[in-house]
Amino acid sequence: MSIEVVDGTTHRIRFDAGKCIHARNCVLSKPNVFKANVVGAWIDPDAATGEELVAVAERCPSGAIVVERIDGTNVETPSGRNAVAVLENGPYAVRGQVTVAGAATLRATLCRCGQSKNKPYCDSSHVGVFTATGEFPAPAELAAWEAPGALEVTPLPNGPLKVAGAHEITCGTGRAVKRGTTAFLCRCGASATKPFCDGTHRSIGFVAE
Ligand code: SF4
Ligand code: FES
Repeated sequence: MSIEVVDGTTHRIRFDAGKCIHARNCVLSKPNVFKANVVGAWIDPDAATGEELVAVAERCPSGAIVVERIDGTNVETPSGRNAVAVLENGPYAVRGQVTVAGAATLRATLCRCGQSKNKPYCDSSHVGVFTATGEFPAPAELAAWEAPGALEVTPLPNGPLKVAGAHEITCGTGRAVKRGTTAFLCRCGASATKPFCDGTHRSIGFVAE
């Protein structure tokens, strides 16, 4: 699916429809910039300040919206606190200094139901067919943060997402569940120990690149 690139006077918006999970934060928070249900041009970067555009991008969980300065300088600097939120009946929302299958991003929503046609990204196929909690018990203890650094997410063929690098796994509501440097997250939808892989993908014949 193509990426729309719209230049304003000082800022550029990139919109990747293939990643959008239709959480609608953009059209609800800045309806003058992201105009729902219009024919033709629907993104107007000049209808908000640069700071406001960046704030919308930060609230876009999927990374479908990226805001850049026209002069090429960065507008967002990751904090080094990488996080993977497990969303109720939905995907993983990853944020930080992240690569997904080698592609750099600040945010991404990744399939955990096994049904997406756009794996490893979520395409909203979970809606109405996938039931899995996004709430987990508080851990007995939480490890200290490792030194800030990059987080590499690698979809293993026919298996889980391998997460490598300092990160925190959180409930969908934000409470920390686990902190560490390596995790294997279920993406077939069938693990009995969600969000972690328990090997069930083999017995159900899960197939994914
Ligand atoms: S995922 Fe991002 S682009 Fe898609 S509706 Fe939500 S905020 Fe807007
Ligand atoms: S990916 Fe689901 S059990 Fe391994």
